[in-house]
Amino acid sequence: MTFSEVEEVSGYVGNFTVKIRKKARYIDPTLCNACGECAQVCPVVRPDEYQMGLSSRKAVYIPFPQAVPCSYILNMGDCLGNNPIACGKCAEVCEKRAIDYDDRDEIVTREVGAVIVAVGLEVYDPTEMDEYGYTRFDNVITSMEFERLICAGGPTGGHFVRPSDHQRPRRIGFVQCVGSRNPQLGRPYCSNICCMNTVKDTLLLADHYPDVQNVVFYQDIRAFGKSFEDMFQRSKQAGTRYVRGLPGEVAEDPHSRNLLVTVENTTSGRLERHELDMLVLSVGVQPPKDLARICGLLTLSRTSDGFLMESHPKLKPVDAPTRGVYFAGFCESPKDIKDSVCQAGAAASRAGALLGAGHVQVEAITSRIDEAACKKCGQCAAVCPFGAILWKKGEVAVVVEAACAGCGSCGATCAFGAISMRHFTDDQLLAQVRAILADRPQDKVFVFACNWCSYAGGDMAGISRMSYPASNRIVRTMCSARVSEEMVLEAFRCGAPVVLVSGCHYADCHYINANRQTVKRVERLWDTLEKAGVRPERLQLEWISAAEGQKFARVMEQLERLRMSVTLEEIEHARRVLKSKSRKAAEVKAGAAAGG
Ligand code: FES
Repeated sequence: MTFSEVEEVSGYVGNFTVKIRKKARYIDPTLCNACGECAQVCPVVRPDEYQMGLSSRKAVYIPFPQAVPCSYILNMGDCLGNNPIACGKCAEVCEKRAIDYDDRDEIVTREVGAVIVAVGLEVYDPTEMDEYGYTRFDNVITSMEFERLICAGGPTGGHFVRPSDHQRPRRIGFVQCVGSRNPQLGRPYCSNICCMNTVKDTLLLADHYPDVQNVVFYQDIRAFGKSFEDMFQRSKQAGTRYVRGLPGEVAEDPHSRNLLVTVENTTSGRLERHELDMLVLSVGVQPPKDLARICGLLTLSRTSDGFLMESHPKLKPVDAPTRGVYFAGFCESPKDIKDSVCQAGAAASRAGALLGAGHVQVEAITSRIDEAACKKCGQCAAVCPFGAILWKKGEVAVVVEAACAGCGSCGATCAFGAISMRHFTDDQLLAQVRAILADRPQDKVFVFACNWCSYAGGDMAGISRMSYPASNRIVRTMCSARVSEEMVLEAFRCGAPVVLVSGCHYADCHYINANRQTVKRVERLWDTLEKAGVRPERLQLEWISAAEGQKFARVMEQLERLRMSVTLEEIEHARRVLKSKSRKAAEVKAGAAAGG
């Protein structure tokens, strides 16, 4: 469905319901024969978005040459003929009677078993990088504008001319990494495609115009794909000069409109000045702006650089954490055409395998609701990052096991003990807490570690033979969000001097964003401890990834120092106060139950 947008997705793996808005085209594609008469008479002229504003279009137009279907659409925002009817010229000349000013958006619903997210990319707008003069000088263009200018289907018919005087440039500079690998701009990642795109452009120029002199300003050339190094060498052999260093200043000669580029050549250590006819900014790429909306539709999360987070970066690179959802292309990370095609094939195969099997196998670690204990409050549904708990006001919550990923956040949230998680029940975890702290608890640092990151970080420290104090005792949970307030308090009641709750880095939780609940819970616990006269720092929260063995060892050393600072009186005080609090809470609960 082209010219359509997904409005809503509900359901779960194998059973998604998708609402799609088919936008009004105002021209019936089954009647339109793309004769173009309507565009010829249309009096409206607008910049053509597809040609990067380098040429114009009418209010009625074909959005781009390969559009499917290849028929005209009417942009009602630009049209004069609708409100009030003032023009109507296109309808007058259309012999096929294809134009319908009363066309309306249509909402269609589809039932699907799997969803592939392939929403592509956006290019970086270099306006904010004023030092390159993109907004000040006509002859500074982006690599996307370069593509349009050199394309046979572009605004100049493929004749490469500079915008200021439509003359053919003879000295062309390229600036790499514009909006990439720049932490100051909040864009620390490599865009992956820009180096080879520039190499390709220099070869294209050398092929079309052998007299052109190209110079590329770069910090590193990353030519790591198949045959890419060969292409890079060919570009150099074709006469392109590669200068290691990014321009510090770009100025313009007001008479010739030539660009004066100052750059420090970091290979020779010299300051160089280049006079160029044109400068091409090799702009980076970024996730589409409305990716946040898609994350909301499909309960996905993003990594710190804004791309979609996969289920596992090495073992499940095309799977979303939400079962039945797969990624293809740039939305997951910067990648070139070949990698995008590979990933699209992998996503299609994964979806095909899922649908072909006809049933879904789930891990046995899912949540289970005790209907008799459920108080129908809906708290569990509110914290489930996968939307796997169905709840309606006044009704018992229901776990959709096919959608439940087993983070245990619901179990830790339920105040009535109505949810338990298979293999990680409250009783099992509390029994571990009590057993660990049964003997000389004052000598132990008690650690809750999530399965995917912190526990693996501990493994990494061990495998790497890092030494750290042996006082820690670890209880593994699938996610840090499984650790309930009661479990932490029980550890203190059993005499733990220090308790650590640890999990994946904030945006890296393997259950989308379940560890946000961890933060909320730990903050509440700090409050509770303070009110009970217990030093809040005795409860620590740390994010340790699977690769951070060193951090794990360092945290254990810090905690050991903290443990040694906790006196026996403090431990006893915490035990006494928290036990009495829990006793009182139990009495209140029993009283309430007895009173009906
Ligand atoms: Fe590690 Fe959620 S899986 S904190």
